[in-house]
Amino acid sequence: MCTRLSYPLALLAASASATTPFDQKLIGPAYPAPSNLAAASAVRAAAANISSALGRALDSGQTPFGNFTAEATSLSLTAVSALSDDGAPILDFHYTAAGLDASAGSTRRVTADSVYRIGSVSKLFTVYAWLLHGGARDWDRPVTDFVPELRRAAALPGADNAAERVQWRHVTVGALASQLSGIGRDYNNADLASEGFPWREAGLPPLPPGEMPTCAGNSSQPPCSRKEFFEGFTKRHPVLPPYTAPVYSNAAYRILGYVVEAMTGSPYDAVLARDVLQPLGLKHTSTSSPGGSGVGVIPPGDSGWGRPLGDEVSTGGLYSSSHDLAGFGLALLAGKQLGPLAARRWMTPHSHTAWPSASVGAPWEITRTRSRVTGGYAVDLYTKSGSDGQYNSLLVLVPDFQVVVSLLAAGPDSGPVAEAAAEVALQALLPALDAVGQGQACDVFCGTYAPADAAVNSSLVLAVDGEGPGLLVTRWISNGADVRHAAQAYADATRGGDIESIRLYPTGLLHSPGGEVAFRAILQTLPPGYDASIPRIMDPGANQWSAVDQLAYGEVAVDDFVFRLDGQGRAVAVEPRVLRQTFHRVGGE
Ligand SMILES: *[C@@H]1O[C@H](CO)[C@@H](O)[C@H](O)[C@H]1NC(C)=O
Ligand SMILES: *[C@@H]1O[C@H](CO)[C@@H](O)[C@H](O)[C@H]1NC(C)=O
Ligand SMILES: *[C@@H]1O[C@H](CO)[C@@H](O)[C@H](O)[C@H]1NC(C)=O
Ligand SMILES: *[C@@H]1O[C@H](CO)[C@@H](O)[C@H](O)[C@H]1NC(C)=O
Repeated sequence: MCTRLSYPLALLAASASATTPFDQKLIGPAYPAPSNLAAASAVRAAAANISSALGRALDSGQTPFGNFTAEATSLSLTAVSALSDDGAPILDFHYTAAGLDASAGSTRRVTADSVYRIGSVSKLFTVYAWLLHGGARDWDRPVTDFVPELRRAAALPGADNAAERVQWRHVTVGALASQLSGIGRDYNNADLASEGFPWREAGLPPLPPGEMPTCAGNSSQPPCSRKEFFEGFTKRHPVLPPYTAPVYSNAAYRILGYVVEAMTGSPYDAVLARDVLQPLGLKHTSTSSPGGSGVGVIPPGDSGWGRPLGDEVSTGGLYSSSHDLAGFGLALLAGKQLGPLAARRWMTPHSHTAWPSASVGAPWEITRTRSRVTGGYAVDLYTKSGSDGQYNSLLVLVPDFQVVVSLLAAGPDSGPVAEAAAEVALQALLPALDAVGQGQACDVFCGTYAPADAAVNSSLVLAVDGEGPGLLVTRWISNGADVRHAAQAYADATRGGDIESIRLYPTGLLHSPGGEVAFRAILQTLPPGYDASIPRIMDPGANQWSAVDQLAYGEVAVDDFVFRLDGQGRAVAVEPRVLRQTFHRVGGE
């Protein structure tokens, strides 16, 4: 018994951080996702600030995140919540640049339904279509099972030279989807040889005519046919062996489009329209230009609007509006078609980059930030960015808050504008979402809980504070014993460290009819004699996840809590399950 218990306490001890409790939690939400955000005053204040800051920035061309040409870039930014009662956006900001190209059919006033090119945000639609058609099942199958051209390329003489040729039989469809294939980035796209680049001045050799791109090399060349693509691309050198590290590839997603076609027996455009756009009601999203119908945001000059991308559509060819993209994001969060299990599985990292805060999913660009930007707890943003011609786009899913932000920009400076606008919006929005989530959680759960029998000296008091996330246990007495003191005495006896706080976090496990919601407690602990000034490789703060559910009494974990909610969603009781006893809520905070 003793050895069994001392082991988990040792792990608790190992999970400390001297300076902050903010990282001593599981990755994920600190509170249940906030609802009714559009009506929450902190969110309304943030939204008003964001709108006025963006308006000023686009008018003046100046932001702390970079400058750009004034009034030249159109912007649509929509933020929505999965838990809104009426579906109204949290934030809807639209800016019409001066001089949009009316002669090309541009809209004269940008709205939430105005259509932009979304570039590589298209990749999300492609992997989504694949997941709808058995992608999870076929994740580890080689792409040669689906694409005959690659099967043939893998059988050519010399194909086994891994320094020269992609080893296509080792490239799985999942590796393509998660940017772990190691294949080249593009075929011909923006090749210097066809971009009027001064190659002689740069010391490059003249190219024989056979090595000059004849398709997709620049905006005046047609897209490459399937035949041209495979003949050329199978001669491109690999970048890395598959599953080495993420390397961005547009070609991977062109090939994934062919996989979708092979699996469905239908053209990519038809699959997307039939299985994704129609069922999700995305009326302003399309695989080809909506034409000069007055809905497009078309900057003057060579904007890239309407330029056909051929089979590159699955990697970067879609058109959409900020409302549609936000709605698509909500459908992904909820697993509307895929189901919640597949949706959660999709929103995970598949690899790290060399940059500590950047990971890669399929093909999520995952950014780790903090709820308070400079402080707070880790929040992972599941994003996908896109760029094509004068268009830049960004879709941001924040699973912890169940919020989606879509951002579309068009104009000569759409890249820096999109970056600056994302900073302005997220830096104001995330703290507001955290504050509202904390406030709502406190309304639902804070207060004193005690057993019905008043003669028993047992109680649990929950609050929220500024010192850390989650629901703070400010008092926990069971049958006259102070549970935290008892845990500390045990920790002292087993060199378990100092328990700094006990905090409860939602697990996402719930049962609606009876209104049951499960939480787990995290014991924020400092190891004995911990000295933060001594650098460590194995950060003791990193192990909290391994301590959850380990300390058990009769096979019920001491950190296991379940709340019961009433019809209004307010907690009426909590069961610290290890005590085998229900505590009723007897008072507010
Ligand atoms: C709004 O902006 C003002 C002025 O920059 C700032 O003081 C305030 O904290 C901001 N409020 C929110 C909710 O972002
Ligand atoms: C933006 O422009 C302002 C005013 O000209 C200038 O002071 C500032 O340094 C510029 N910022 C950047 C990042 O270039
Ligand atoms: C595209 O490349 C072709 C072939 O190199 C060249 O003739 C043409 O001028 C280029 N067009 C542009 C817009 O650079
Ligand atoms: C209940 O138990 C706590 C913790 O041991 C103790 O401090 C408190 O005095 C007790 N209250 C009563 C009424 O006995």
